[in-house]
Amino acid sequence: MSKLIQSEFEWADKQYKYLMKTVPEDKMPQSFKDGKLITKDISWWCSGFYPGSLWMIYEQTKDPEIRKEAEKRLKMIEPNKTFTRDHDLGFMMFCSFGNAYRITKNPEYKNIILTSAESLSTRFRPNMQAILSWDKMADFKGPVIIDNMMNLEMLMWASQNGGSKKLEEVAVTHANTTIKNHFRRDFSSYHVIDYDVNTGDVLNKKTFQGYADSSAWARGQGWALYGYTMMYRLTKDKKYVMQAQNIAKFILNHPSMPEDKIPYWDFDDPKIPNVPRDASAAAIIASALLELGQYSNGEEKQHYIDTAKQIIVSLSGEKYQAKLNENGGFLLMHSTGGLPLNSEIDVPLIYADYYFLEALKRYKDWYL
Ligand code: GLY
Repeated sequence: MSKLIQSEFEWADKQYKYLMKTVPEDKMPQSFKDGKLITKDISWWCSGFYPGSLWMIYEQTKDPEIRKEAEKRLKMIEPNKTFTRDHDLGFMMFCSFGNAYRITKNPEYKNIILTSAESLSTRFRPNMQAILSWDKMADFKGPVIIDNMMNLEMLMWASQNGGSKKLEEVAVTHANTTIKNHFRRDFSSYHVIDYDVNTGDVLNKKTFQGYADSSAWARGQGWALYGYTMMYRLTKDKKYVMQAQNIAKFILNHPSMPEDKIPYWDFDDPKIPNVPRDASAAAIIASALLELGQYSNGEEKQHYIDTAKQIIVSLSGEKYQAKLNENGGFLLMHSTGGLPLNSEIDVPLIYADYYFLEALKRYKDWYL
């Protein structure tokens, strides 16, 4: 694994230097389709993944060209620190500035994270005991999506690094409300819980990006696994690690999990195996399992590490990994963004690359 991980980072360095040349000055890379780079504005939920990936590559290769681009792209998204229009600020500002601060200890980056966490916390709705994910989306009244668990990391980190105590209270309250309402008996999760914003009553349990309201959308299961593992790290509350272990059981024992451990886009699509995979879900699951392995013992721990290793090996192989200077400069192929929305089906996605790089780093740091 040591050689594989080293060569993956060296290759990522070269591939991102190719990607870098194609990204417009005022946009962020999102995907690649029909020979064209797809880009997004900085207010798109994914704007932190490109800078974050660049920082993780720089950390390993110390390539000054990669660092220069990482710094430039951080600057570009700094105005997001006062963004309050949806819940995605953690993805945008912590995957980017969080890695940058971890690597450089630049106090400016820390201040930006603290401001961003305050902005995100304005979306907490006391009556719902949760952070409101979206203001206006479809017919939802008070939607909270399972993805929102990921944004709690920035609140927790900020609270524990000079920010207000209130940020941690918001994160813990949100995580507890999500345990109560988002999960089924088998520890799979609904995508969207729609709340009454005034009473906090659950109005509906729905999906937005999954196959059906009752199905297990693969990336959503990954967000849940990662979210509760991370909440255990930052609170040491045992109920979070137990939740994560139960979610892992659901994912790892699912009959539709393929042999190469790269899930189909939704575990319950009845057309499996003739449906797209989601490499992004696989990368998120691998990164989360590696952390969960840190908090588990015996056979369970080994199972998490072995599965994460298998995912890394699959994603590093010909089927999922692009060739140099192909795939628009993205690392991985075969992710699925929103199949029912007819959006980003079987394409590269910037966040698949991000969590793949994070999984490589975690394996190297913890298991080599
Ligand atoms: N957070 C949006 C998604 O996972 O597609």
